[in-house]
Amino acid sequence: MLHFEEYPSTDLIYLSREDVRRAFADVDVISVVRDTVMRHAEGRTLLPEEAYLGWTAPDGSAARSLAMPGGIDTGAGQQLGLKVINASLGNPARGLARAQGLLLLFDEELAWPRVMMEAARISAFRTAAVTAVAALELAPVPPRRLAVLGCGTLARTHVQLLSEVLALESITFHDIEPERSRALAETVAGDPDFAGCAVQAAPDAQTCVKDADLVVPVTVTTRGYLRPEWFAPGTVIVHVSLDDALPEVVEAAGLVVVDDWGLVSHDHRRLLGRMYREGRLRGPDGRYAEGAEQRPGARKVDGTLGEVLLGTGPGRPADTDLVLCNPFGMSVLDVALGSAVADSAERQQLGLRVPR
Ligand SMILES: NC(=O)c1ccc[n+]([C@@H]2O[C@H](COP(=O)([O-])OP(=O)(O)OC[C@H]3O[C@@H](n4cnc5c(N)ncnc54)[C@H](O)[C@@H]3O)[C@@H](O)[C@H]2O)c1
Repeated sequence: MLHFEEYPSTDLIYLSREDVRRAFADVDVISVVRDTVMRHAEGRTLLPEEAYLGWTAPDGSAARSLAMPGGIDTGAGQQLGLKVINASLGNPARGLARAQGLLLLFDEELAWPRVMMEAARISAFRTAAVTAVAALELAPVPPRRLAVLGCGTLARTHVQLLSEVLALESITFHDIEPERSRALAETVAGDPDFAGCAVQAAPDAQTCVKDADLVVPVTVTTRGYLRPEWFAPGTVIVHVSLDDALPEVVEAAGLVVVDDWGLVSHDHRRLLGRMYREGRLRGPDGRYAEGAEQRPGARKVDGTLGEVLLGTGPGRPADTDLVLCNPFGMSVLDVALGSAVADSAERQQLGLRVPR
């Protein structure tokens, strides 16, 4: 008979949205993310391919679940975990967030899940932190004029985090739904933390980006619309939503960096993965995709953000060059940030002990 005595009654710690919010107060998100991006470039992470489950929701919206495992060797041990992040494009019309998820952290010794936490805040802030690190590292001078395309959760997170590390003179928003960009511009303009920063909503994407030195697309588009001639010289584009740029932007950029070429190249849905399959883009090793038509003169991906941070990757482009950073989104950042949040929660004695 099975009595399961080998399963002692250890608890699982559950951190709710509010626990995660409170634990965040103690965490330096940007330095956790910066360190992890560098550890990844040093080969001290485990980053398997993610699993993608896509379906059509009963309301006809595209829905998906991503399972993203990752591990980091911190020198003092390994942080291991799995983020599950699900989204339905129908949610915003219901007044609900598009995406929601859970992050599990594993015990290094026993391998058992140890902590489970609400993942939306971690996912949004680790993404904005990559943008902050990229902006500070890749721009010729720290950017001051921010353009944000798409005005949902990621837009708000970016504005909050970027304003903490950049002396922003202006923020311009554009959303395909004009009332969303108007509403976000009004909220930010009315926030005393943004006094002295010119905040506006632009009627179209071209107007939004034309005077910016940092452009962050955080839309849900699957069709490119950003043209290279729209950008001022030296602009840094952090292509968070991965499909806003047209291939010509990639080809015109003086520097193209990714977070992880394996993730980008295995994906066939997003712009860079598609260009690679079409033989229109080569990997950082100069190679074409297997079986792709090898188009002469196809642009090469220059390297990773982590290599730039370590000083082992591509050098600086000319100050007037367009820079494209294409962060696919690495699970190791969720696991590292989640681990810092779990440590902070433990210090603050936050969380619910759930019996197994
Ligand atoms: N690369 C990464 O690491 C990473 C991480 C998290 C999220 N993301 C991506 O960021 C994007 C934004 O996420 P979110 O949670 O803020 O979504 P959201 O649904 O809250 O907001 C998206 C906004 O974009 C607007 N929009 C859609 N198409 C547009 C277009 N063509 N031009 C201008 N605006 C447009 C929508 O009206 C909406 O207001 C998603 O595509 C998501 O997959 C990327």
